[in-house]
Amino acid sequence: ADDEEKYLGNECKELLLSLPKKRGWRTLHLYQFQGFWWETQAIEAVISFQKHFQARDSDIVVATLPKSGTTWLKALTFAVVNRHRFAIKTHPLLTSNPHDLVPYFELHLYANNQLVPDLSKFPEPRLFGTHIPFPSLGTITESNCKIVYVCRNPFDTFISAWHFANKIKPQHQAPLSLDEAFDMYCQGMSPYGPFWDHVLEYWKESLKRPQNVLFFKYEDMKEDVVLHLKRLAEFLDYPFTMEEERNGVIEDIAKLCSFESLKALEVNKTGMIRMSKFENKVFFRKAEVGDWVNYLTPKMEERMSKVIEEKLGGSGLTF
Ligand code: A3P
Repeated sequence: ADDEEKYLGNECKELLLSLPKKRGWRTLHLYQFQGFWWETQAIEAVISFQKHFQARDSDIVVATLPKSGTTWLKALTFAVVNRHRFAIKTHPLLTSNPHDLVPYFELHLYANNQLVPDLSKFPEPRLFGTHIPFPSLGTITESNCKIVYVCRNPFDTFISAWHFANKIKPQHQAPLSLDEAFDMYCQGMSPYGPFWDHVLEYWKESLKRPQNVLFFKYEDMKEDVVLHLKRLAEFLDYPFTMEEERNGVIEDIAKLCSFESLKALEVNKTGMIRMSKFENKVFFRKAEVGDWVNYLTPKMEERMSKVIEEKLGGSGLTF
């Protein structure tokens, strides 16, 4: 069996045989499951998650497609919710990567066929991260918990994902060319894709249940992080007081979580994510809006724009 499938349980191995399969980005394969494309191990994890995870109304979930600004939003959410527990100078974000403070369901907690995690010791509110598409979120979809979602324009998300895949894939696997990756992306075959379906499901839910799903765009956050921090804090029922505003607490959090600050930390230069095998530094590249123009031809731009118009036109969601 393929190395990445060796450690799967028999039930999952059998399921995989029945699923549509494509070449993976950083992994060997992607499989189509519950309407989306998943990396092999995430399928086993999400099945376990769906079986065992019991949402609490106080839970907070940071949901994203990969490379949309997850690291940033996890940091901001952690900092907002825990601002009375930690001083900025000794803040956990200075010594831990955000992915260790806000673990993923499918990549950390329920990953690697491990025992069902004991989440009872997590301090409330429990903070989780996930790339799982909304319809596959199990008990979360019926609970009152809060979901913060960030999406990023598909051009930059794609370029970021392409860089990331080639950076972290095992050496024995051939690199993924830009053309091949682009073609797959436009067909919807990217981890947790199709892009448009993932985004749309959360977008619709945010319109239907604005108290439970907050929808951000990466580009808007970059333009005005303070405004978004205020909206985030209000949404989570942790609004900033006038006094906090006067004392510059919002700016302090924005600075603590900024790309420049996080990237420069020792932990993010040399550390590893505790619960997976990634180096922390792979999560920090350029963090620019519009970097895609350095990679995509006008023809590629046209193709992706067409897909996006076709899939998202009329939804009210534009990039
Ligand atoms: P680039 O590859 O375009 O630089 P994710 O966190 O979802 O994996 O997304 C990673 C992208 O967000 C990368 O984009 C990365 O550089 C950028 N990023 C990481 N930390 C950030 C931060 N604190 N603020 C803004 N962008 C950040």
